Parts: sequence; structure tokens; C-alpha cells
Amino acid sequence: MRLENKVALITGANSGIGKAIAERFLAEGAKVAINYLPGKPNEADTLAQIAAYGDNALAVGGDVSKREDVEHCFAQAVAKFGRIDIAVNNAGIEIKKPFVDVTDHELELVLKINLFGAFYVHQSAARQIISQGGGGRLINISSVHEDIPFPQFTPYCISKGGMRMMMRNIAMELAPNKITVNNIAPGAIATPINQSVLDDPEAVKNALSEIPWGRFGKPEEVASVALFLASDEAEYVTGSTYYVDGGLTQQVTLY
Ligand code: BGC
Repeated sequence: MRLENKVALITGANSGIGKAIAERFLAEGAKVAINYLPGKPNEADTLAQIAAYGDNALAVGGDVSKREDVEHCFAQAVAKFGRIDIAVNNAGIEIKKPFVDVTDHELELVLKINLFGAFYVHQSAARQIISQGGGGRLINISSVHEDIPFPQFTPYCISKGGMRMMMRNIAMELAPNKITVNNIAPGAIATPINQSVLDDPEAVKNALSEIPWGRFGKPEEVASVALFLASDEAEYVTGSTYYVDGGLTQQVTLY
């Protein structure tokens, strides 16, 4: 058990990559506060699924784009489990649209959830971890698009590029507190965010032509890197991004 006696809060952890991380952390002995966005039609199923994980899991509903929701999630996690050791920013959205057509509302929505939300979560986590003493682990699930461009996804790329700089900055600031900060940059992973691509054979073919490994990634393959970064073994690992992308980032299509 690599996360025994650790308490983690993971955002957007009721589906996709976040869910795989929550399940892996629970399997490794962590207590996990599972954040989800309340008010969705599947809320009852989400709550039932989290309840089925048992006493080491706690459902913490909240919209990460709202500072007060994030603080409430942390307060609930600390009330139940007594501390926070690990915080994972996983919640995120993307909107596909030509740059010239993006509305202010769409720009704000993506940045508020993906970037402001990540800021609120890591700030709340860092304050709690510093007050406890003993250090901790902050992780962002960013994207290969924290670095490589993705035409028609400009707000998304801005948010992920921002996450990269936030991570590098706070890794410096929080090192004296023994808090590591790292990003995981997934490529094309088979999760709900990619459902429209996965449902379209032509789009799948195009995507696969850019992935040297020849297939989409699995959420569990991102979760295993998150587990390492969250573990005691990763004590000296801070301020970097770890790509989980089947080689996508290195693929250059010249012609
Ligand atoms: C995006 C996916 C995309 C993948 C690879 C991810 O960050 O969410 O839509 O397939 O990057 O381009």
C-alpha cells in the first residue's frame, strides 16, 4: 500500500481520468475526497458509486470555478479525514471552435474551470498542508496541449499552458514547505472528453495516425503516474511535467 495514511482530494473524480486516479489511490490505502459537479442528471448514480467505495471515500460536490465551493470541499475533507496530503487538479472542459468565433462566455468558462479552478484548489491545499507541516503533493492533470498547439481549442490551450507555468512557479515557492508540484500531460486518452472522436471512425483514424504507440491511452495509465507522483518515493520530484501520450508529443507530421 503506497498511500497508507494519506488523504487526497481529486477534482472531477467521478469520471474519466479523475475516477481512475481516485480508484487507484483508494486501492493503495488513501482516504480520498472525490469532487464532482453537483446538479447534473447523473448525480444520484455518482453518489451511489462513491458510497460503494466505502468509508475511505467522501463525495464532495462543488464547482471548482467557484472559490467558495472549493473551500467548502476542503473543509468537508478535513472535517472527515483530519488532514490533506495530496491534491489533484483533474476537472476540466474543452470547447472546439475557431479562434475568431470564440465568445467571451466560452473563454471565461474554460479559463474559470481549468485554470482558476486549479489555482483555487492548489492554493487551498497548500494552505492546509503548510498549517499541518510535513509536506505534501500537488498534481495537475494538464495535457500535451500545455505545450503543443491544438488549433480550434485556443481557450483550452491557454488554460493548460497557464497550468504549466503555475506548476513551475509554485513548485519553487512551496519547496521549502516540502510540497512537490508536478503536471501530468495526457495525450489522447479514451475518456468522455474524447467521446465525439471515439464515436467517429474517421476521426479515430486521424488521431491514431499521430500516435506512435498506435492506440488511445487508458485512464489507468495516467493514474499509475499520478500514484508515483503522489507517493513518498517521489519526494525529490518537483517542478516538471510527465507526458503520458504514447509518443504523441514527439510526432512531427512534416508533409
Ligand atoms: C484533449 C483531447 C485530445 C488530446 C490529444 C487532450 O488534452 O482533451 O481532446 O484528443 O489532448 O490531442
